[in-house]
Amino acid sequence: MSKVFEFLKKPGTQIALLIVFLALISGAAWGLYLTQVPPVQPIQFPHSTHVNLQIPCLYCHPGAWRQASAGLPTEQKCWACHGQLKKYYQPEVPVENWPVELQKLSAYVKENKPINWVPVYQVPDFVHFNHRPHIAAGVNCENCHGDMSKKTVATLEQTVNMGWCINCHKSKTENDPVKRTKLLDCSTCHY
Ligand code: HEC
Ligand code: HEC
Ligand code: HEC
Ligand code: HEC
Ligand code: HEC
Repeated sequence: MSKVFEFLKKPGTQIALLIVFLALISGAAWGLYLTQVPPVQPIQFPHSTHVNLQIPCLYCHPGAWRQASAGLPTEQKCWACHGQLKKYYQPEVPVENWPVELQKLSAYVKENKPINWVPVYQVPDFVHFNHRPHIAAGVNCENCHGDMSKKTVATLEQTVNMGWCINCHKSKTENDPVKRTKLLDCSTCHY
């Protein structure tokens, strides 16, 4: 025991421990940073504005209730609305005077170029995730993606790992052993 203390008291050891300690702290801080800083998107799309206008999530992400992936809107979908928004049609508001993010949108439409949105939520290839059964079972978008009415671009609200999936599958099947077996079976989520 005393040998351990002597070892710990050596200045070299203390510096090494300090370095390990700092590395752990900064690692944790980096993890936090990664989850809170959204990726830079081609257009700073304001979810809050659109969600508060009562535009349904499924209007822009229609895949969520019928297939595996929810899907992201194309510039045509945005333009179907923004092209109609009267205030921008008036000759006294030329494109150069539009809000910057809408100028970008207009350029994508004019050049017929797809907007390459940067993915935020992702599971690895060996995992099978499907939106449909979740929406069908009444799990809300908000449960997994947070309150989008308070955000601009999407941020990662939830580290997508196996523990998260399993915990919810357990909690949703407390009184249904057959369903529990199915939802915890490796092959339900892994090909
Ligand atoms: C169903 C209609 C609708 C759709 C679809 C839509 N928007 Fe909007 N958007 C609006 C309205 C209404 C506003 C708020 C009024 C305004 O700024 O003209 C708005 C505001 C915005 C703003 C803020 C503009 C500012 O004043 O700073 C941006 C940026 C924007 N939208 C981008 C997009 C993009 C990108 C898409 C496609 C992914 C999209 N919108 C799809 C209706 C829509
Ligand atoms: C049970 C949790 C859960 C629920 C509920 C959920 N999602 Fe997702 N969502 C995920 C996961 C996990 C991913 C990553 C999927 C992947 O990489 O294949 C994702 C990805 C996405 C994506 C981007 C990739 C894609 O699928 O096209 C969008 C957009 C999205 N979700 C929107 C929604 C909307 C809108 C709702 C509600 C109608 C919703 N989600 C409900 C967990 C959920
Ligand atoms: C007017 C269109 C529009 C509406 C309405 C809308 N979204 Fe989105 N959503 C987008 C666009 C554009 C992106 C890509 C930019 C980004 O990541 O923020 C996106 C991205 C997302 C992502 C991240 C996708 C990824 O890459 O992982 C999630 C999650 C999401 N939306 C959920 C929702 C939910 C939940 C609602 C309803 C409360 C909603 N959205 C309403 C247009 C919309
Ligand atoms: C917030 C709760 C919740 C989270 C988080 C969640 N699930 Fe689910 N999952 C459910 C519910 C509820 C069902 C539907 C059960 C039923 O059939 O009634 C379901 C069903 C499924 C199914 C369909 C099973 C079948 O019947 O074939 C798959 C696959 C699945 N989840 C994968 C995942 C994966 C992968 C993750 C993590 C990335 C995940 N889930 C995260 C609640 C959740
Ligand atoms: C409800 C969905 C779900 C079930 C059931 C599930 N997994 Fe996973 N698993 C995931 C997700 C999501 C990931 C990817 C994220 C991560 O690495 O945590 C993953 C990752 C893994 C990995 C890679 C871990 C790593 O660190 O890269 C292994 C190995 C694995 N699972 C084995 C299993 C085994 C064995 C079972 C059955 C006892 C099982 N899984 C059941 C969702 C699930």
